Amino acid sequence: MVVMTVAPDTVPVPLAAHLGGASVELPNPLSIDVAPGLEPAAHWWADVTSHAFGTVVREAGGSADVVFALDRALPPGGYELVVTETPGGPRLTVNAAGLAGAYAAAQTLRQQAGPPAYRSAPLPGGRLTLPAGVIKDAPAYAWRGVLLDVARHFAPPREVRRFIELAAAHHLNVVQLHLTDDQGWRFPSRRYPELTRAGAWRSASARGYRNAEMEALPHGGFYTQDDLREIVAYAHSAGVTVVPEIDLPGHVEAAIAAYPWLGTRKGPHAVRTTWGISDDVLDPGPEQVAFFCDILDEVAEVFDSPFLHVGGDEVPTTLWRDNPAIVARAVALGLVGDDGRGDVSRLHGWFLAEVVEHVRGLGRRAVVWDEGLGPDLPRDAVVMAWRGLRQGAQALAAGYDVVLAPEHYVYFDHRASAGPDEPVPVGFVRTVEDVYGFDPGPVSAGRYETVAGGVSDLPRTGPGEGPDDARPSSADEPGARDDSRGARADGWTTDSAQPVPGRLLGVQAAVWTEYLETPRRVDYATYPRLAAFAEVAWGSAPPDRGPGSAGSAEFLARLARSHLPRLAAAGVEYRPLEGPRPWQMKPGLTPGIARDVAAETRAAGGVL
Ligand code: ACM
Repeated sequence: MVVMTVAPDTVPVPLAAHLGGASVELPNPLSIDVAPGLEPAAHWWADVTSHAFGTVVREAGGSADVVFALDRALPPGGYELVVTETPGGPRLTVNAAGLAGAYAAAQTLRQQAGPPAYRSAPLPGGRLTLPAGVIKDAPAYAWRGVLLDVARHFAPPREVRRFIELAAAHHLNVVQLHLTDDQGWRFPSRRYPELTRAGAWRSASARGYRNAEMEALPHGGFYTQDDLREIVAYAHSAGVTVVPEIDLPGHVEAAIAAYPWLGTRKGPHAVRTTWGISDDVLDPGPEQVAFFCDILDEVAEVFDSPFLHVGGDEVPTTLWRDNPAIVARAVALGLVGDDGRGDVSRLHGWFLAEVVEHVRGLGRRAVVWDEGLGPDLPRDAVVMAWRGLRQGAQALAAGYDVVLAPEHYVYFDHRASAGPDEPVPVGFVRTVEDVYGFDPGPVSAGRYETVAGGVSDLPRTGPGEGPDDARPSSADEPGARDDSRGARADGWTTDSAQPVPGRLLGVQAAVWTEYLETPRRVDYATYPRLAAFAEVAWGSAPPDRGPGSAGSAEFLARLARSHLPRLAAAGVEYRPLEGPRPWQMKPGLTPGIARDVAAETRAAGGVL
């Protein structure tokens, strides 16, 4: 419920505010007093403030100008801002439920200071002023993410850090890095150096829709482990967790190019130059499992995220079906269909289960795309539903924790308008208003809880697995864990026959880069749609917000009035609301045929 006198012009808008219309100018130098545990957020705010306004920030006890205080009575991830003029001068108090709340407060403060707060050096005469009053705010979802695909087009570390900073500016707290795919391997392995020596480079790239045009220019790149450690640390300093993704057992042609024995077809192999779903998936055998467990060990050394994404999407089993040794392996593993023959499609689930268990052994939780939902998926795996809300509902009902990332709402590579000028238009038409209309809940009539707060509030065990799902349990320690493969994927535990519903952890948008070959193109596709998504993810968007609604009109007006100027000051080359600028178009390339949301929804039985 949004209660406001003068609405703050922030994105996301806070849940509640009482602002009288007056402003308060904070002094320079500025004294600050920070409660233990909140220092990273307070330092981040002091840092951006000193860059943007030249403010000298000094730590002081007692009666400081700015106080960051803990208030554990606030909701998870929540905060309260109080800006007043006192007899002793202006005062800003930030009360936060914890570090996540303090970060959200810091981002709101930056937004309230206006576009100059997004500059990296002070403008002449620039002053740090904030609206006087009170803001009370808290997130609806603990996982508020956005994926960046650095496999299809490599983004240099500087651009990844910038992407993270901009996500954080919108109260997002997870950035998933899609590090590997058919067209490029970007994660450096000490043990398997061919992955980047050979797998990080391709000879050409498709440009028009469905590979209609080719650009015969090699493309590639990879991160060093130090690059990635820097990215992780940088993200932490802005309150963001980087979730790495190693996509398995499909989307692996770059790895097969480096080590052909990994593939179902063993011959020489090139890093793929075209887009689409490849038949060349891994040979689902124990050696391949072991290889990727080694990789995940290295990934876990570099990334400290409690969650590691292991892919699982778009895995054609054609080559497995045609391979007698693989069919025999399915039989040997007991993966047989009703006809008693080997069911190779279950090798997908078997492979993922092996990997998910390995990730558990590393003290982390695995995340899989929704194709991974099946009878063999361990209960502690988190399901990321991308094909639609229906898959999210199925996973929740089956007792899995879920992140919703439905492509028909939150895939920002999809065309931003129905107009002919959109650059390489693919997928559904997804305008800013369409994204703002995304309603993550309820995704089904089933019972499930929603997890609010920050990443530290996310459960470290599967539904029903821990005495306290919100905190790491002894079962998280290597060697002291239960094997959750005994749990059934239909939502019923085998011992008590009670349904244990999954939990809705949050929502995530995606920026796939097949058609976004540069950071400038990423900016165009991402903004301002990510701003609309962020308000939905935070949970302060009004319930009535579909295209054409009063809620949507208010958001668009606020965006144009206050938020696009912030993005402009930050140097973001967003898509103007009225359409692409001439140099943002891509004339001459074959456009795609727009997918029809209504028709696909009907075909899916009413829920896509
Ligand atoms: C996906 O879009 N294939 C996860």
